Amino acid sequence: MNLARLRRDFPALRRRGRERPPSYLDSACISLVPQATLDAMEEYYTEYPACAGRSSHRWSEAAGRGYEEARAAIARFAGAADPTGLVFLRNATEGINLVAQGISWEPGDRVLITGQEHNSNLIVWQRLAAERGIRIDALDLPSDGSFPSEQLEERLAHGIRLVSMFHTSNLDGRSLPIREIVERAHDHHALCLFDGAQSAPHRAIEFDRVGADFYAFSGHKMLGPTGTGMLLGRRERLNELRPLVLGGETVAWSRLDAHDLRPPPYRFEAGLQNYAGILGARAGIEYLARRGLPEVERGQRELNRFVTEALSDERRIHVLGPPGVADRPSIFGFTVDGIDPHDVALFLDAGHRVLVRSGMHCVHSWYDRRGIAGSVRASFYLYNDVADARALVRGLRELVEKVPNGSPGPAPARLGPRSKEL
Ligand SMILES: Cc1ncc(COP(=O)(O)O)c(C=O)c1O
Repeated sequence: MNLARLRRDFPALRRRGRERPPSYLDSACISLVPQATLDAMEEYYTEYPACAGRSSHRWSEAAGRGYEEARAAIARFAGAADPTGLVFLRNATEGINLVAQGISWEPGDRVLITGQEHNSNLIVWQRLAAERGIRIDALDLPSDGSFPSEQLEERLAHGIRLVSMFHTSNLDGRSLPIREIVERAHDHHALCLFDGAQSAPHRAIEFDRVGADFYAFSGHKMLGPTGTGMLLGRRERLNELRPLVLGGETVAWSRLDAHDLRPPPYRFEAGLQNYAGILGARAGIEYLARRGLPEVERGQRELNRFVTEALSDERRIHVLGPPGVADRPSIFGFTVDGIDPHDVALFLDAGHRVLVRSGMHCVHSWYDRRGIAGSVRASFYLYNDVADARALVRGLRELVEKVPNGSPGPAPARLGPRSKEL
């Protein structure tokens, strides 16, 4: 399917009158949805709008069937043979929290993260450190995008209980070699949890092949509706986790003084679920699978290459992360000397209808250590075309020309407890 036709599948990209829609370069935050996602949700609400599995009437059975078929389809997409290892949640953050707060920690247990984690994979560890006495170790990732295998070995030798790292970074788009990480971690009897929020949208998860213990990702970054997330886990590992929320659907029976938990994944899905959302997420993920992840990533890489090369002579623009686009295909993260990242984003939107994200991208700790106020992030997805990339380049060139460089280097940090940075 050519790109112009594909774009017509996305209602937000359809032309209104003669105007081209804005260049949406913020898919790393939330992706647009194809009509197929909306249709699946509408089908639920119009054809069988009932609670799944609880009642025995036909609508409930149809909803229950759809929900479990979605579980099987998404597990298959993720390379997991066992669909009961897939837990439906609200987002990737909830998946990470389920693991973090579900393990029975001992004081002194160590968790290994990187120095570039999203707050979703940092704050919960800080709380566990304060309340349960766990220790947090962080790998330093070199800025050239290489992976510090020796440093990992060294840290693992200290007796790490869980390695919890991003697969693809939302800040600069680099990916970590998760297969190598799993092998090394398992050699040292450590468990592995990956934050796949940014990788699952364009890279095969291959859960069984990689051998990770847990893998969290979000539907709303991969053509699904908002508030849909998933955690994949090995059955024996899920059995060891204490559920975060208890109530209806989590128990096989209860008396006034006792209950018996259902097996995973149901013990983790308390209360009525987001049935419409999960059916929509399935439709979105299947759309993605039909396009083919290698093709999706190739498209992102080409647009990123176009932008990177077109701006390579702009001395005031500094790209974050590895220099080669092949090592950061989905994300063009950058700073502009002398211009606040939010001003860059506002200018691009107001002047060129280019929608990017600015700030600290929920990785405050990374900016804090470097003393910079933030960066701008353009993220590409399967529906972006070269006109989007050109608009970004045009906007940035105009901005740099119009705004003289008062201060060399990226804008200084404005961190502090009152900072409103996101
Ligand atoms: C790397 C990374 N991890 C976690 C998250 C959180 O995802 P969610 O909002 O689905 O919980 C994000 C969201 O931007 C992310 O980029």
